[in-house]
Amino acid sequence: MSWLTNATLVSAVGNAGGLGVLGPNAGQTTVTADPVETAERMRREIRQIRSLSDRPFGLNVFSPSSGKRVRDNAFTAELLKMAYEEKVTHFVVVGTPHEELFDDIKAHDGTLVFRPLTPSVEQMQDAERFGADLLVATGSEEGGILPRQDYGTFTVVPAMVDAVSLPMLAAGGINDARGVNAAFSFGAQGVYVGSRFLATEESPMVDAAKQAVVRATFADVRRISASQRSLSTPAADKYAQRYAATHDAGLDHEISIDGGLRSGMLLGDLERGIISVNNGVDAITTIPTVEQLVISLMSGQVAA
Ligand SMILES: Cc1cc2nc3c(=O)[nH]c(=O)nc-3n(C[C@H](O)[C@H](O)[C@H](O)COP(=O)(O)O)c2cc1C
Repeated sequence: MSWLTNATLVSAVGNAGGLGVLGPNAGQTTVTADPVETAERMRREIRQIRSLSDRPFGLNVFSPSSGKRVRDNAFTAELLKMAYEEKVTHFVVVGTPHEELFDDIKAHDGTLVFRPLTPSVEQMQDAERFGADLLVATGSEEGGILPRQDYGTFTVVPAMVDAVSLPMLAAGGINDARGVNAAFSFGAQGVYVGSRFLATEESPMVDAAKQAVVRATFADVRRISASQRSLSTPAADKYAQRYAATHDAGLDHEISIDGGLRSGMLLGDLERGIISVNNGVDAITTIPTVEQLVISLMSGQVAA
């Protein structure tokens, strides 16, 4: 989760028995456009995790766009170089299956989790062929950047499970033990949970946004652009009106210029910023510790 992970959250997930994943800008509050500085900031976060936990963790890597080499994307190339130096073991590759990237990670003994942004049978099968170890099927309930087609978790997970033999993690709208049980009954062998971890004690999300998530129901969820949703904020309501009226293609760019989820969720500017969570937000009613959350997700109990 871009801007919304850090060493504290990721190590807590590992210590609770999950696999925490460092997202883009982990542990940061300021923007840098320098690929080397970006990788060095991530190195500091990785070393911080190692001082808090001896459990494995993952690193989020965006696959280069189709037709591009790994070295063509300076951010990905620098991030991977640093990660291999730091002996990172798990990589969550997001985007499209990219054979060169997969080969590179496997050549460095990495465990490769692949999550297509928009799930398709073809991409899952390519990922399996290129050597992925685990796959993630994401339904359109998810927080963050939405898939390009509006297929929910109930539709996507069984379709992807049936198409490949690799183990599948289910993602999108899984906020409590009922969601975990549903994912398992659709044939998933694990869950990939984002939004629910934002409202935990260890999450770097600002307290005002945690309280907003806990209070929210799905009536507060706004579609603000072709690829994003937000809880109602003054900025989100303005984007939502424009999106409903014109499907304005420039909105994603404008949201990013205005600061988007970094402003709202990390810095607490709820006037100008947005709060991106999944649309199953009704089930998020408490701010547990990560350990309490993981236990409750996996045991069928509701988080205290
Ligand atoms: C605030 C936020 C930021 C996200 N940023 C990223 C990202 O940078 N990279 C990525 O692969 N997924 C990102 N995601 C999506 C999550 O990785 C994951 O797919 C999703 O949260 C799972 O669905 P859930 O939110 O319904 O649990 C983000 C999600 C949220 C809520």
